[in-house]
Amino acid sequence: MRQVTTVGVIGLGTMGAGIVEVFARGGLDVIGVETTEELAERGRGILQASTDRAVAKGRLDEAGQQDILGRVTITTRMEDLAPADLVVEAVPEVMDLKHQVFSTLDGIVGQDAVLASNTSSLSITTIAARTAHPERVVGMHFFNPAPVLKLVEVITTVRTDEAVRDAVVELAERIGKKPVVVGDRAGFVANYLLFGYFVSALRMLEQGHVSREDLDTAMRVGAGLPMGPCTLMDLVGLDVCDHIGDVIYAHSRSPMHAPSAMLGRMVTAGLLGRKSGEGFYTYDRPGSGKVV
Ligand code: 3HC
Repeated sequence: MRQVTTVGVIGLGTMGAGIVEVFARGGLDVIGVETTEELAERGRGILQASTDRAVAKGRLDEAGQQDILGRVTITTRMEDLAPADLVVEAVPEVMDLKHQVFSTLDGIVGQDAVLASNTSSLSITTIAARTAHPERVVGMHFFNPAPVLKLVEVITTVRTDEAVRDAVVELAERIGKKPVVVGDRAGFVANYLLFGYFVSALRMLEQGHVSREDLDTAMRVGAGLPMGPCTLMDLVGLDVCDHIGDVIYAHSRSPMHAPSAMLGRMVTAGLLGRKSGEGFYTYDRPGSGKVV
């Protein structure tokens, strides 16, 4: 395997833009791809705002920020990914879209480039099955906020080449992350357990057993978690939680993952969490974490 020095990231939403930042901070050259110039601009904005915040907090000086931004190229042309040693896909969680992205990539990157998906719950085996070289496909699952949380789940399938797995583990360590190698099942490890916990919390709310504030306080203060489940679902996005929950339940059929009607109704009503400005809590503006 060649050493990974240039990476591609497809999809520059919250997760994709965060992953771009993580790689650039780790000293790699990064090519970020979006479908339209408008979305590319939004991706640039997320990266700029996140590094501005690091400068404002004294975690990064201006030269360091320029260095990071200078390593990143953002484009709307998939062909620009040709030099990438590894590409992480972070597009919406729709299997047809993943298939489309991976088959396009097959025709662009070199034969020994690694193709990774940041999917939260979809099957890596299914994504890999439609590619020309399933042995070079892995999951590389980052956690939100990607620039802060250290875990990366490296998901292998029965077809993944061991050298590919080792290269991704080495890369994750090189950029300061903590990789764990896990098998391919819906939700992998962290989301499988986390979403069972979310569903239990939602049931308690549905039954009027506790208020959202007291539920959050119980888990934050009593279990030592950085945030309670309602605050965390608002951070992840209620639509994302609903969708991931459905995918995990479709595979596990475990009562611990059975969908919450309340969550579905909140999504239908447009309460999506921080991103829409309203979820379990109300925020001072969309995208903000400041509760009013
Ligand atoms: N991007 C970049 N940096 C961020 C950030 C973001 N979105 N949010 C917070 N930070 C940084 C802050 O700048 C700050 O850095 P500093 O200490 O160097 O100044 C640091 O993180 C701590 O932030 P704050 O002081 O604002 O607030 P907290 O101490 O409460 O931390 C938190 C915020 C990191 C979000 C913390 O509350 C946390 O870890 N929460 C749990 C998050 C979690 O569990 N995520 C997993 C979700 S599941 C998932 O992602 C899977 C997916 O498949 C759905």
